[in-house]
Amino acid sequence: MVYQGVIRRYKNYLPVTEKTPIITLLEGDTPLIEAENLRVSLGVDSKIYLKYEGLNPTGSFKDRGMTVAVSKAVEEGASAVICASTGNTSASAAAYAAKAKLKCVVLIPEGAVALGKLSQALIHGAEVLAIKGNFDDALHLAREISNKYPVVLVNSINPHRIEGQKTAAFEIVDSLGDAPDYHFMPVGNAGNITAYWKGYREYRKIFQEKRKLKLPRMMGFQAEGAAPIVRGHPIKKPRTIATAIRIGNPASWKKAEEARDESKGVIDIVSDKEIIEAYRMLSSVEGLFVEPASAASVAGLVKYVRQGYFSQSSTIVCILTGHGLKDPDRAIKVARKVRVVKADLKSVANQMRL
Ligand code: F0G
Repeated sequence: MVYQGVIRRYKNYLPVTEKTPIITLLEGDTPLIEAENLRVSLGVDSKIYLKYEGLNPTGSFKDRGMTVAVSKAVEEGASAVICASTGNTSASAAAYAAKAKLKCVVLIPEGAVALGKLSQALIHGAEVLAIKGNFDDALHLAREISNKYPVVLVNSINPHRIEGQKTAAFEIVDSLGDAPDYHFMPVGNAGNITAYWKGYREYRKIFQEKRKLKLPRMMGFQAEGAAPIVRGHPIKKPRTIATAIRIGNPASWKKAEEARDESKGVIDIVSDKEIIEAYRMLSSVEGLFVEPASAASVAGLVKYVRQGYFSQSSTIVCILTGHGLKDPDRAIKVARKVRVVKADLKSVANQMRL
């Protein structure tokens, strides 16, 4: 059967009925890529898989949640949606709102959203308001607006977003035939770690009569300068080059701690340096271009391999949450430089050291 998006694929496990109008851009069904080169570079005998969520229609995992949130908003008769965003949620909300013919307003922290994401929100026709504050301030305002006015909030505090995003855990289990032993991912506002943990637990329950599925240890990573959960208090001025996860007071803080504790996992930090190292490694060794925040999952894996955390051969999944083209400025900053040469054979051959 032709693929029809996450709602139709997993409708039995989502809050939809025959009456729900399905707004989809055919999100989901993303590849789970075995990272053999990375495994060899790290010198481990575990199997490493990368879930490439950057291949969703708007280039990030947000689309899984947005298809459900926007479909439910339309079902409930909404005419407008709003979100606060470090960029990807706004890109996704703008695209799904366009498809659903809804008005879309996005609040972004001024000057702190990567170029690709900003271009998406604008071209899809969202009203983009840059707040003179950070993401946490923007989310506070978006919540207030949605409480006072007839505008549906499509941030991950909207439970429909979490419902949609849990389908990525279903896909991983469907691909591997079981859950992995370890699940590595970045943590920002903490909606996605909440969604994956919900997904793994629900699928285990659904299949319990047929076969016993594993539950992974949830390994979440925050950027060093934006690590409120690790530090145990909100961060007033979060800092990191990974703008997607530059968040000081995550909305799903408690749920992230539950996922960590129930799964016997960890929430830990990775430095910007470690994020960039993983970012370069993924693009040069695996041919996968991701945005810096997404590389936090692999940075976490590298850190834990180096600490000797894995005592036996395991199955490891790292989530690559967003596409590298979202943040071209960062790639150009950290990659090799373009060399300008004269338009003649000798100059080009010289440059090629031929
Ligand atoms: N990776 C990327 C690429 C993201 O855009 C985000 C969050 C995360 C990881 C963290 O996920 O918030 O569920 O813990 N981006 C949000 C946004 C905040 O506005 O686009 P989380």
